[in-house]
Amino acid sequence: KKIGVCVSGGLDSKTVSKRLLMAGMDVLAFSADLGQPDETDIQNVKKRMATTGVDTVIVDLKDEMAQGCFDIIQCQAQGDGGYWNTTGIGRYVTCRGLLKAMHEHKVDVLAHGATGRGNDQMRFERYTNVLYPKMSVFAPWRDAELLKEFPGRTEMAAYLNGFGIEAFVGPKKKYSTDANLAGLSHEAEDLESVETSMLIVDPEMGVWPSQAPDKMEEVTFTFEAAQCVKINGKKVTPQEAIRLANTIGGRNGVGIAHALENRIIGTKSRGVYEAPGMELLGKALRYVYQAILDRRATRLFEHCSKIVSDQIYDGRFFDPVTTASIKAIQELTKHASGTVTVGAYKGNVHFISLKDVSASLYNMADSSMEASDGLEPGLEPGVC
Ligand code: ARG
Ligand code: SIN
Repeated sequence: KKIGVCVSGGLDSKTVSKRLLMAGMDVLAFSADLGQPDETDIQNVKKRMATTGVDTVIVDLKDEMAQGCFDIIQCQAQGDGGYWNTTGIGRYVTCRGLLKAMHEHKVDVLAHGATGRGNDQMRFERYTNVLYPKMSVFAPWRDAELLKEFPGRTEMAAYLNGFGIEAFVGPKKKYSTDANLAGLSHEAEDLESVETSMLIVDPEMGVWPSQAPDKMEEVTFTFEAAQCVKINGKKVTPQEAIRLANTIGGRNGVGIAHALENRIIGTKSRGVYEAPGMELLGKALRYVYQAILDRRATRLFEHCSKIVSDQIYDGRFFDPVTTASIKAIQELTKHASGTVTVGAYKGNVHFISLKDVSASLYNMADSSMEASDGLEPGLEPGVC
């Protein structure tokens, strides 16, 4: 049997890969390039993994990740408590991409490094089952023997050192971070106590609103069928759009959120999230939606949006229910085209102006409270 291990190049990844190799398995590691803010990381993964004698296939999923961001922004699919579940988005992109590569390398078993306590174990399993039902999944951190052998980081480091493999056990981190182009999720360790402020997080994609400039920064987005095609008048690819929106949103303290969310397995989880670009683009697009969707369309949109968000969280992106909901949203938003200017200011996204939204239902003359050449209350009571 050939085993494909999803790795990040850290202590866990190296320990699991080496241990499986020593058990006589045919091991190949896989890692996804998701355009995470710390880009040097991904280049080092292959090198670090090589010290264990395991080769790593790096799969470039940056464009897929950017398109994932665009799709989720189009669906306005925010998680529990109104944050962008960037890990959930990253997971379906990662699983789809890595499983395809594993299939090409004739891998029979996918191994992942998620704990037995969180959401990712469920997502890895569900995505493998639905995309490659013939493949099986091995979760090392749910294996009683391995858990006994490696109760903590010290034992992992000692194991690797025994083979002369460098095992950097850095200073204890304040929390664990999952990163991709869409943003960062921080949880665990010091963040577990709800008596600890969310402000212990050092933002990596920008600053806290209190540290942001005192001057509002205006930015103009042009959307075509709910996809951002230009920023400040300049054509952008999805990847460029997310990166630029991350920079602008980040430096103005936009998109930092706190959640006490509901994990798939039923427990609660406390997290702090950074998604500056998703928030900036998402709010801008929402202003276009407000102009083109009537009340009934808005209600259906919100229903589908909530379904998509739950499905992503739950690791059910490839279910027919997700596909159908996204198709409904595409139908409802196919006329979401136009240019919107917003002002990023200390964590807020202010509405500045809306232009060229040809499908806008807003008619200033009809809406006006003044006498106008629009709605004529004396002649047309109760227009609907
Ligand atoms: N609770 C979030 C989710 O399930 C974030 C998980 C982030 N993981 C991490 N190791 N920091 O999507
Ligand atoms: C993990 O369990 O490994 C990370 C957190 C999560 O998936 O919820």
